[in-house]
Amino acid sequence: MVTGASSGIGEATVRALTAEGWTVYAVARRAERLAELEAETGAVAIPADISADDDVSRLLARVTEAGGIDTLVNIAGGARGADTVGQASTEDWEWMYRVNVLGTMKLIRAFLPMLRAHGEGTVLNLTSTAALAPYEGGGGYNAAKSAQQAMTGALRLEEAENNVRVIEVAPGLVYTEEFALNRLGDKQAAQKVYQGVEKPLTAADVADVVKYAVSAPHHVNLDQIVIRPVAQAANHKLIRKG
Ligand SMILES: NC(=O)c1ccc[n+]([C@@H]2O[C@H](COP(=O)([O-])OP(=O)(O)OC[C@H]3O[C@@H](n4cnc5c(N)ncnc54)[C@H](OP(=O)(O)O)[C@@H]3O)[C@@H](O)[C@H]2O)c1
Repeated sequence: MVTGASSGIGEATVRALTAEGWTVYAVARRAERLAELEAETGAVAIPADISADDDVSRLLARVTEAGGIDTLVNIAGGARGADTVGQASTEDWEWMYRVNVLGTMKLIRAFLPMLRAHGEGTVLNLTSTAALAPYEGGGGYNAAKSAQQAMTGALRLEEAENNVRVIEVAPGLVYTEEFALNRLGDKQAAQKVYQGVEKPLTAADVADVVKYAVSAPHHVNLDQIVIRPVAQAANHKLIRKG
C-alpha cells in the first residue's frame, strides 16, 4: 500500500512498483486522480484521508477483504507555510502534524497486526532532510518531519522481534508539481524554490530508491536513506546558477 498516491513521489512510487509486478493499493484523498492512476497502472485506488479514523478503519477493512498487504509505504504528507517560529500559524502547524505524524502513526497502528502476521512485513516512511537540520522558516516542517523520523526509529526497535522491517527515506530537494505550491500558496513563490537549480531530484528518482529498498531481500534493512541532488550538498548549500 502506498499513501500520497495522487501526486508527486507517491504517484511515481505507484508507477515504479506496479511496473515491477507489485500489487499496489493506492491511497490519497483525491479520488479522480487515483482513478486515472488505476486506469494507467492497474493499482487499486482507495480514496481515504489518512488522518481520519473512520477512513483508516474503512481502508483496513477493504484491504483485509482483498487479501492484505506485506508492505506499507507512508508517503502522504507535506509542508504548509514558511513562517518563522515567532510568526507561526497554528493552523499550518496543526495540519503538518496531523498528516505527517498522526496520519503516518494511524496507518501503522492499523496495519501492524497484518504486517506482523505476514511474517516478513515492511514499513517505509518518507521523511525529509528537514528532519536532519533545521532552517529559518522551516520550524513547523522541521518539527513535523523530526517527529515522524523519531517515530520511525522507535518503531524499528519495537518491531524487530516481530520481523517487521522499518525503512526511512529522507529526500532533499525534489521537484514535484504540488509540494512547494501547497506550502507557499502561489506559483511564483513555488518556482523560486527551484530557481537556478539545474537538476533537483525528480519524483521518479525518489520512487526508484523506495522501490529498491522495499524490494531488497527482507533481512536487508536500509534503515535510513538520505537522498539529495548533487546541487544540494547540505540543506544550507544549494547551488543555483544564473
Ligand atoms: N517535494 C520535496 O521536495 C520533498 C522533499 C522531502 C520530503 N518530501 C515529502 O515527500 C512526501 C510527498 O511529497 P510530494 O513532493 O510528492 O508532495 P505532493 O505532490 O504534495 O504529495 C502529497 C501527497 O500526500 C497526499 N495527502 C496529503 N494529505 C493527505 C491526507 N490527509 N490523507 C491522504 N493523503 C494525503 C496528497 O494527496 P491528496 O491531496 O489527494 O490527499 C498527495 O498525494 C511528503 O511526505 C513530503 O513531506 C517532499
